[in-house]
Amino acid sequence: MDTLNSLVLEKFTDDAVKSFFQRLSDQFQNEAAAVTTPQQAEEFRLRCQGRKQGILTKVGELLKQAPPEHKKNVGISFNRFKSEIGSEREWHKNVGLAGLTPETSPYGNIQGYLDKLKAAEIKQNEIDITLPGTVRAPGIPHPLLKTMHEIVAVFHHLGYSTNLGPQVESDFYNFEALNFPPNHPARDTQDTLVIAAQQTRPSRDRLLMRTHTSPVQIRTMIAQAPPIRIVIPGKVHRNDAADATHSPIFHQIEGLCVATNITFSDLKGTLDHAMKALFGSDVKTRFFPSFFPFTEPSADVQISCIFCGGKGCRKCKHSGWIELLGCGMVDPAVFAAVTAERRKVDPSDDAYNPEKITGFAFGMGVERIAMIQHGISDIGHFYSGDMRFLEQFA
Ligand code: PHE
Repeated sequence: MDTLNSLVLEKFTDDAVKSFFQRLSDQFQNEAAAVTTPQQAEEFRLRCQGRKQGILTKVGELLKQAPPEHKKNVGISFNRFKSEIGSEREWHKNVGLAGLTPETSPYGNIQGYLDKLKAAEIKQNEIDITLPGTVRAPGIPHPLLKTMHEIVAVFHHLGYSTNLGPQVESDFYNFEALNFPPNHPARDTQDTLVIAAQQTRPSRDRLLMRTHTSPVQIRTMIAQAPPIRIVIPGKVHRNDAADATHSPIFHQIEGLCVATNITFSDLKGTLDHAMKALFGSDVKTRFFPSFFPFTEPSADVQISCIFCGGKGCRKCKHSGWIELLGCGMVDPAVFAAVTAERRKVDPSDDAYNPEKITGFAFGMGVERIAMIQHGISDIGHFYSGDMRFLEQFA
């Protein structure tokens, strides 16, 4: 190494500078080739690149003395030599230790690496394939999606297909066509989140966040003639404060069946089967009179309490029954609204003539069903992202 240090430059002529750097370079290459261990590599690097005593620093100082007319030429040669020695990153290539991993490179924590080598009693340049790898847990479906798929699958087995619709919906699909006239008090039950700056539009075009999946009933019937058997899973939005059983964004699954001779007993049979498929064959169902603007007659469906078997407990408020979903026979006013839209395309359209066609619809909350299935008491768990909660469904 001393040879590297002992090089002197007396004159700054082009020839003198050229041969000076040639000798520097030769000696650098020779010494680099002699390096065999990481310690030697690090020592050598410090001798070359060390900030205070390194050869690069020294040569740099020497060159400062060059007279102005030679400065440029001297600078070019110096930079060429510098890049030959290489940046720290490239250093391991230059000193013939290219086989070392970044961890074993002399610039990293060399002492730490040597200690590790010693402890593991493995030779340098060897990779220890017995060390454990990085274990990644496989992903699982979110419990809500799992329940949603389960419900949809029950209806797929009955010959239903799936339809989807937009979450930003117009007043027409979310309300008007479903027989909620403008300003009708039935709209109050829906706690609607409206989109800003819609006042200048005709009321049927005003945008809002859909409050239920029922608008997709209308979209489907406008697009296709009966028979229809569809389920519609999706997100819905309501201006509800979040608490243990409410969330401003939640999920529903809608069902619609329209054909000739569909009766209330078809509705009862279908939902009774679905509830037994979801909660076990010994649950009973009962249909309670209710009201929805778009179904007539309407009903709330209750199942016998799955926690106490119908005897009465805290979960069912000692009634023995749990209310699960809304349903009813499609109101003729809905068929009329659909027909009016279809006639804009084909004035003779009569596909949804209520004299010939009947249907039923139902809608259920996915969160509520998942909470009952798994005995979850706070809806917020579904959205918290807490792995301790989610892992229980793996
Ligand atoms: N859309 C209704 C609601 O969200 C539920 C429902 C759907 C009722 C279909 C009857 C028929 O409240």
